[in-house]
Amino acid sequence: MHDLIKTWDGEHVVVRYDRESGAWIFVAVHSTRLGPATGGTRMKHYSKPREGLRDALLLSEAMTLKYAVPRFPRGGGKAVIALPDDFDRTGRDKLLLRYGDLVRSLRGAFQTGPDVGTSPKDMDIIAETGAPYIFCRTPDRGGAGDSAPATAFGLFCGMEAVCEATFGSGSLAGRRVLVQGAGSVGGRLIDLLLDAGADVLFSDVNPETVMRFRDGRGVPFIQPDDLFNTECDILAPCALGGVLDGKTIPRLRCRAIAGAANNQLAERADAERLRQRGILYAPDYVVSVGGAMAITGIEAMGWTKEEAAERLRGVADTVREVFALADAEGIDTDSAARKIAERNLG
Ligand code: PHE
Repeated sequence: MHDLIKTWDGEHVVVRYDRESGAWIFVAVHSTRLGPATGGTRMKHYSKPREGLRDALLLSEAMTLKYAVPRFPRGGGKAVIALPDDFDRTGRDKLLLRYGDLVRSLRGAFQTGPDVGTSPKDMDIIAETGAPYIFCRTPDRGGAGDSAPATAFGLFCGMEAVCEATFGSGSLAGRRVLVQGAGSVGGRLIDLLLDAGADVLFSDVNPETVMRFRDGRGVPFIQPDDLFNTECDILAPCALGGVLDGKTIPRLRCRAIAGAANNQLAERADAERLRQRGILYAPDYVVSVGGAMAITGIEAMGWTKEEAAERLRGVADTVREVFALADAEGIDTDSAARKIAERNLG
């Protein structure tokens, strides 16, 4: 763990071993240059606590980039609660309350919302001890609710800019879009795409989710094994990270990639691999900022829902700016977006 932290370029990490549950908690504050570090709390099983730490470190950097590209006044941070194999779920709420204590002890240096494995209901619990640093509580408890619809809408707007650059028209009508992961963001993205008249396909590993979209909604299902060989206009990774690497990229049969999963590239060189293949990649942190931005705007900056929607449409402008710079300099889109972020971080 020592080596991971030493080679990471963030500000600080708070590590807590929660003896009662056996969980490891990692709060990674990557950058507070533009504002307080804000990012989701991811709660899941990892093969080793070290893998949870690695995830927290990388995800916190992605949050810095997310806010920096559109110059949103927040910094990058992320928390991971790495659950032990023998985790006793009856102790889940108590663990969340202890986690809330930890967040409040940081006095605002880190502020959080939901992520993989946590929900607005969980934010209600965490806020009992962690307020006022907890976003996305349910509307009953005075929060703005789930961030996923805003993430999906921002991503959809970004996808229109991707269509413009790839096909010369921003419309998604008739475009074949393959959504990987029909969870909280991917599921809503599917709805937006269907409304826009897109030809949607999806893949998921959760049998209930597959039933809901394939049998309930009639959306064609692609087996996870076939995901990367399936021909489509746009691939939308909306599950976990690390899906684009030296093995999958050569198999891809899509024209562009735009999805909400954080850290889709296994390594930075994969952006260049995509460019070499002529696949237009919209960096994940550029198109997935919607939830974090809209909720923080509404709950902490007094935005109305309309203002938030307007800012979400702005994701399309950021995507255009990134593609224009990549074109002008002949570099991959991830490098272009990082350049913009670095410039904005001053
Ligand atoms: N899961 C969100 C993201 O990765 C986290 C988030 C939600 C952060 C709400 C802040 C507020 O962007």
